[in-house]
Amino acid sequence: MEIQLWRELLDPYQLAVDELTVKFEHLITEHKKRGLYSPIEAVDGRVKSIVSILDKMQRKDISMNDIEEKMEDLAGIRITCQFVEDIDRVVNLIKNRNDMSVKYEKDYVSHMKDSGYRSYHMIIVYPVNTIKGAKLINAEIQIRTMAMDFWATLEHSLQYKYKENIPEHIKKKLMDASNAIMELDSEMSDVRDEIMDAQNSHRMKENLVKDILSNIQNLYKVANQKEVTKIQDEFYKVYVLDDLTQLQHFARQLDIISEGYRAQSLS
Ligand code: GTP
Ligand code: MG
Repeated sequence: MEIQLWRELLDPYQLAVDELTVKFEHLITEHKKRGLYSPIEAVDGRVKSIVSILDKMQRKDISMNDIEEKMEDLAGIRITCQFVEDIDRVVNLIKNRNDMSVKYEKDYVSHMKDSGYRSYHMIIVYPVNTIKGAKLINAEIQIRTMAMDFWATLEHSLQYKYKENIPEHIKKKLMDASNAIMELDSEMSDVRDEIMDAQNSHRMKENLVKDILSNIQNLYKVANQKEVTKIQDEFYKVYVLDDLTQLQHFARQLDIISEGYRAQSLS
């Protein structure tokens, strides 16, 4: 097939990857802005390379005409999570969306593959619109922890090196490593609440400080310089106490002061 035709074939898949990446990244931002823990840590997307498509056509005996129907991972999204528990949350987030529908799922988290591979896969049907009109396409979403991702990335490079024939002693090492990853994930889960608490209060502090500073900046436009400088000094004093409750209290007080000026400027 000519390169131009490949491009046309893959164009809607690139669009899907771009859109889906934006949508999942937006979920991260939404959680963070509200000071909530995000079950999604990172999102990555890719359109399958032509080389990989040709290899898979050969491996699975798929003809040119059947590519779009039978190769369900032309568009691929990878979502990484911090904890195993987050995977289920992401799966449910996806199931509850109305801009994509789930065709089927493969749970390699509960049912590890023989290689030691663990991940949750969802094949979705996703509508895209290009200059050729509307079209429903398949996309594969892989959901895994950062630890599972680490293992899969390294194991994947070995698959490239050895094709399908990874030597037995290396296979065994990989299986041992996979078990160690599972152990690591489970140990991290034990301190999940602790870690989430820490991350949440850090994010809350960041959001608060951002609000306070933008409030002070706005005050500069309307209030007396001396007073604003005093407020700013007070902020530093509260800040070094490193106490979230006091910081929240300060932010509320500042809100009231700002509101007062706003009311004044309106009347
Ligand atoms: P392909 O493996 O893509 O031909 O499709 P399949 O029908 O066998 O589906 P499967 O769910 O087994 O794999 C889909 C994708 O998951 C692969 O393309 C890889 O990205 C990933 N994957 C599956 N098995 C492994 C594995 O053993 N190691 C690694 N690193 N990745 C895997
Ligand atoms: Mg496979």
